[in-house]
Amino acid sequence: MKTTFILLATLSGFLACKSSPTPSTTAQDWHTQSNDPEVHCQHLDLNIRVDFEQQQIAGCATWTIENKQAKALHLDSDELTIDSVLVDAHAVAYTKDARVAHLGERIRIPIAAASKQVAVYYHTGAHPRALQWLTAQQTLSKTKPFLYTQSESIYARSWIPCPDGPGIRFTYDATVQVPKGFMALMSAENPQQRAVDGIYHFHMPMAIPAYLMALAVGDIEFKAIDARTGVYAEPTMITKAANEFAEVGKMVSQAEKLYGPYRWGRYDMLVLPPGFPIGGMENPKLTFCTPTIIAGDKSLVNLIAHELAHNWSGNLVTNATWNDFWLNEGFTVYFERRLTESLTDKSYADMLWELGYQDLQATLEELKDRPADTKLKLDLTGRDPDDGLNDIAYEKGALFLRAIELKVGRTAMDTFLNQYFNHFAFKTITTELFLAYLQEHLLAKFPEQTKDLAIDAWVYGTGVPKNAPRADQDRFKQVNATRTSFLQTGALDLKATSTWTTHEYLHFLRLMPKPLAVAQMQQLDQVFHFTQTGNAEIADLWFIMTVAANYKPAMYAEQNEAMRNFLSSVGRRKFIVPLYKELMAHPYSVPVAKQWYHAFRNNYHPLAQESLDKIVGGK
Ligand code: BES
Ligand code: ZN
Repeated sequence: MKTTFILLATLSGFLACKSSPTPSTTAQDWHTQSNDPEVHCQHLDLNIRVDFEQQQIAGCATWTIENKQAKALHLDSDELTIDSVLVDAHAVAYTKDARVAHLGERIRIPIAAASKQVAVYYHTGAHPRALQWLTAQQTLSKTKPFLYTQSESIYARSWIPCPDGPGIRFTYDATVQVPKGFMALMSAENPQQRAVDGIYHFHMPMAIPAYLMALAVGDIEFKAIDARTGVYAEPTMITKAANEFAEVGKMVSQAEKLYGPYRWGRYDMLVLPPGFPIGGMENPKLTFCTPTIIAGDKSLVNLIAHELAHNWSGNLVTNATWNDFWLNEGFTVYFERRLTESLTDKSYADMLWELGYQDLQATLEELKDRPADTKLKLDLTGRDPDDGLNDIAYEKGALFLRAIELKVGRTAMDTFLNQYFNHFAFKTITTELFLAYLQEHLLAKFPEQTKDLAIDAWVYGTGVPKNAPRADQDRFKQVNATRTSFLQTGALDLKATSTWTTHEYLHFLRLMPKPLAVAQMQQLDQVFHFTQTGNAEIADLWFIMTVAANYKPAMYAEQNEAMRNFLSSVGRRKFIVPLYKELMAHPYSVPVAKQWYHAFRNNYHPLAQESLDKIVGGK
C-alpha cells in the first residue's frame, strides 16, 4: 500500500466546504505497491533494447533515489523477469513478492540511508499488458514490424520496473536500441530522422507519472505542421495525416489563450497502426492516436483537442489516484469542448455536448446494477482500474464543470481554471483538494449563485443530479425532423442533409428505432452510402444497426466485406466491443462473430483481447 502525504493548501477553504465528507490529507493509492514517498524515485535512466524476433524489451532501469530513511525500495512490476539489481554499483539480494491480482509483483530492494542509485536489469514477460507487437502485415505500410506501448492506467510496470502510481512523478533519460532502419519515439524530446545505427537518446526534463511513459518503434516518418507541431506516421499515412492535422498548430495557440501556456515544448502526434485499442493517449510531447480519426475531412479532429487538453488537465495537474480519474478526464472533456467551441461555434459545441449527454445516459443504463460506479469519486480498491474508468468520469465530470460555469459565468470560470492549472502545475490533485480549492477560489465569491449547486450530489452521489444542464438543440432539431419524416413517410430531405457534419449523422442514426426494417436500411444506404463510408464513427454505428436489422447484404455480400474489413484491422475498443456484442446478440450472427474473432484476435491489443474474450470467447 502506498501513501502519499498531501498537504492541504487551504485548510480554511476546505473547512468552508462543510457538507463534504472530511477530506483526508492522505491520498491512498491502492494500485501501486511502491513505497514512494518514503523513498522517492526522482529520475529514471532507461537503457533498453527492443528485440522484434523475441518480442522482448530487455535492459536496465536505473533510478536516482532520495531515501527518507527506508530500509528498502519497493517497485511495481508485472511479469517482468529481474536479472540482477545493483545499488550504487554493488549487487544486492532483492526479493519479489507473490503476485497480487491486478497489481503484479512488488520488488523489494534493500538500500541504505545514503543509497543514491538503484539499477534493475530486467526483461519483459511473454504477454506484457502495455505492449502490442505487430507483424509487418498488421501495420498500414506492411513494410516493418511495429511496437507500441499503452501504459495508462497501471501497465507501465509491465515494461519498466517503476513506482507506478499517478501521484508519483519523475524525470527521465532513455537510450533505446532498435533494429537498423527503424524509428523510435517516446513521450520525450523526439528525433525527426532515423538514427543510422538504430540507437536513440531521449530526454524528458519535466517530471511525469509512470502512466505517461510511452514508446513506439516502427517504420515511422515525420512531417512538420508548423514550428511547434508535427506528425509522425507510417509512410503510407504520413501525407493524409499531415493534411488532417493541418490546423493543430492553431489549436495549440487557442488552447493557450483559454487556459495558459503550453508547458511541454513541442506538440507532436503519432498516428498508430489501426490495432491501437483507444482513440488517443495524451503521452507528453507526443499524443498517440488511432488512424480511425483520419476521416479525410477533419471531422474527427476534436479527438486531438481532447488529447491536447490533457497537457493541462492530467499531464500538468494529475489525478492523485485512479479514484480521482474524473479530475483528468472530466476536466479534459470540458476543456476540449470549450476549445472546439472557440475554434468553431456554439452550435457545433452544443452537438458535442448533446452526444456526450446521450453517452452518459447509456452508461448510466449499463451501470444500473453497479450504482457506486456512477459516482465521480470512485472506490476502486481491490479492482482493476480499467473496470471503473467509463463515461461517468468523462461526461458527468464535464457536465459538473459546465454546471459550475453556468452559475458563475464564463469569465469567472476561466479565471479560476487558469489559476488552478498554475497553482497545481506539475503536482497531483485529489478530489477533496480540488473541492477545497474550488470553494475558496470560486464558490466563495458567488455564494448566492452557487448555493444550490449540489456539489455533494455531483461528486459523491450516484447518477446525475436533477440540475444537470442540457445543451441547446438548435442543429439537432432539424436532424430530428429529418429522421421523423423519414420514419413516417420514407421521405429524405436532401437539402437539409447537404450541410450535415459527422455529428449530425451520428445523431440521426443513434436515435433511429432498433432494428430498422431492411427496406429502410437499404434506402438509407442507397442515399448516404453508409456501408462504404470512410468515417469510422459512422461506420461502426451503421454496422451495429446492420446486424440488428439483419440487413441481408451485410451478412452475405458486399457489406459483409466492409464490416469484415473494419473488424479485421480496427482495434479501437470503443468501436469493436459494441459491434461484437451486437453480433453475439443474434443467433444468425453468432457464427460469423466467432469466425471473425478467431481470425482477427491477434490483430487486437492484449487489453482489447481481454475485453473481447469475455464477450466472444477466447482462443
Ligand atoms: N487518457 C485517455 C485514454 C485512457 C484512459 C487510457 C484510461 C487508459 C485508461 C484518453 O485521453 C482518452 O480519453 N481517449 C478517448 C478519446 C476521447 C476523445 C474521449 C478514447 O480513446 O476514446
Ligand atoms: Zn482523455
